[in-house]
Amino acid sequence: MTTISRRSFIQTVLALGATAAWGQPLPTHSKAPWHERRDFYPEGVASGDPQSDSVLLWTRRPPTTGNAVERLTVEVAQDESFTRVIATAEAPISEASDWTCRVLAGGLRSAQVYWYRFTDADGNGSRVGRTLTAPSDNDTTPVRFAFVSCQNANQGAQNAYRRMIFEDERAAEQDRLGFVLHLGDFIYEIVWYPQDRPQGMYGRRLRDIVRYEHGEKVHDFHIPTDVGDYRAIYRAYLHDPDLQDARARWPFVCMWDNHEFSWIGWQSLQQFGGINRPAQARKVAANQAFFEYQPARLYKPSGPTLNQFDPPRVVDAPITHFDEHGLGLEPNNLVAIHSLRGYRTMRWGRNVELIITDQRSYRSEEPTYRTEAQAFMSDAFPGLMPQEVLDILDGGCAYNNGHPPPTIRYGGKDIANFRRDQPPTTILGVEQKAWFLERLKQSKATWKIWGDTVATLDMRADPQNLPIGLTRPWPGAGYAGFDASTGTGDHSTAYTERGEIYDFVRDRGITGFATIAGDRHSFWAGLAAKGLPPKAFEPVGIAFVTGSISAPGVIEAFEHAFPRDHPLRSLFVGQGPADTRPQALMNLLLRHGVRSCLEYLHSGDVQKARALSNADLSPHVSFVDMGGHGYAVVRVTSDALETEFVCIPRPIERSEGADGGPLLYRTKHRVSLWHKGEAPKLETRIVEGDAKFSV
Ligand SMILES: [Fe+2]
Repeated sequence: MTTISRRSFIQTVLALGATAAWGQPLPTHSKAPWHERRDFYPEGVASGDPQSDSVLLWTRRPPTTGNAVERLTVEVAQDESFTRVIATAEAPISEASDWTCRVLAGGLRSAQVYWYRFTDADGNGSRVGRTLTAPSDNDTTPVRFAFVSCQNANQGAQNAYRRMIFEDERAAEQDRLGFVLHLGDFIYEIVWYPQDRPQGMYGRRLRDIVRYEHGEKVHDFHIPTDVGDYRAIYRAYLHDPDLQDARARWPFVCMWDNHEFSWIGWQSLQQFGGINRPAQARKVAANQAFFEYQPARLYKPSGPTLNQFDPPRVVDAPITHFDEHGLGLEPNNLVAIHSLRGYRTMRWGRNVELIITDQRSYRSEEPTYRTEAQAFMSDAFPGLMPQEVLDILDGGCAYNNGHPPPTIRYGGKDIANFRRDQPPTTILGVEQKAWFLERLKQSKATWKIWGDTVATLDMRADPQNLPIGLTRPWPGAGYAGFDASTGTGDHSTAYTERGEIYDFVRDRGITGFATIAGDRHSFWAGLAAKGLPPKAFEPVGIAFVTGSISAPGVIEAFEHAFPRDHPLRSLFVGQGPADTRPQALMNLLLRHGVRSCLEYLHSGDVQKARALSNADLSPHVSFVDMGGHGYAVVRVTSDALETEFVCIPRPIERSEGADGGPLLYRTKHRVSLWHKGEAPKLETRIVEGDAKFSV
């Protein structure tokens, strides 16, 4: 390591506000009196945001009776038994950061496995963690990483991590995962206490994982109100043995989605019962807990304090004035949303640049969550909204080149266009979007992988093709999209912004553009296109969404909550003549359309059903499973990208086996690197199991 790189390392350390451990060229035997006391480190260990020469290490060591530890020793070694230790450092811990400890280990070699552990002055040691560094920028060795989202410890088990560990331990060295990208909903801040909902959630029992000391009860659930509550929910989640083992095995790269702050949160606003309320103090508290519990390279304006967040003071002042991009100008809102910057890039060898963005802190209000949008929804078509309505609501004052219609036709009526004077929806916000596009343009990596916490692939249905008499006439002019409450409100209905990004990709001749997302609690593989028939369909990239680790998906919710006697229930969770339980027909609906669903309900024959596919409905979708749980693995080489979906059964209870339980299916979705001006082509293979309605 040269003096210059050592100096730049120290600058990085200062910018991150971390203690540093510096790698020495000659390894030595550990001198720490370490003996493992996992009970003294109840949240385990973790590492995060690896680069080719450094990685962040993390633990938490709360005081034991009468003993507040002020310093920990961290050791980094080339072997699991610490006979070849290459870095040692002393790291302070204190109550100010809830006894969490972050250390940046630097001076490391690229593409290496390292082991690390923490020890207090009495030799009480953490468990041993394993981590990896990134390959150097010119390394063309194939790489693999996993992406995950949406783990709910209140309602389910984290069997997906157990399966991931099981497979990785048995994989050949070159096939092991380099890191785990977590695309948000690492925690769910909304918690049901078991006694508040004795019937459980859908068919699941509720776990008593946390009691918020200062929580607020909303309807029948509880939400955190201060940093102590947000810290408590992270701790509760990290007590999950499968999640804790996963964090100890791989470096995690974490980005928050909505539930790290608030369910229908946007900027520093919360929304309950359709009413927005300012929550600047809670946004800062959520950021502080994220900073303390996730070892990530994040920027905070409070400066390079060691290991401390230093929350800015804010008050929950009303947010009433918005700029031309929908950004609330109230000063406390601006301070709160800028108190921690999560968007960043990560390089992983010659072939991968990961561009990670924040979809919640800067976004404008989701139009379909507005009360005025209810006028475009109907109980006869739950969750569905005409796509032309979604398009007009998204575009706001910019729709139709700045000539939005004063009214919108719906069900034979002309309804006021409440969005005609408001800016088009932005999910990234103007500043982040400019940064994102610049990174896309500048990237030298073969594959530019956008880690977008929310999905980009259109989710639509064709109720206009329903036979007359089955239900009321469809109130729209053509295809249907879905409102935010059924799982979109993401980049799939932010047509203006998505179009701007995709046009940029096309116009700059950017190839190898792939998006990976979470949030939707479903597996999707497909092509990235700004328009679908009858508009032009011109893919500029590929896109994937991973199923949730454990949070319930739409199919599960519909099985329990879609009215039993509703004429459209069977299109979503219907049964063929020979089926004994509800089937995930919604997959068929989204992929092939209503005629395929009706055929299956009549004959029970999937082949016959697919033969009636509406080819214009979803030419962008190769695979969709609205009921799938598990994780996704990306494998990248210089000339191809392949994403694998590993789908497990509904994780209602913990599987005690070493493999985390059985698989439902494993599928692979491969694309060859395309040339400028060419459209990507995605090939889907079912490798294991049956995913019958998904293709
Ligand atoms: Fe989620």
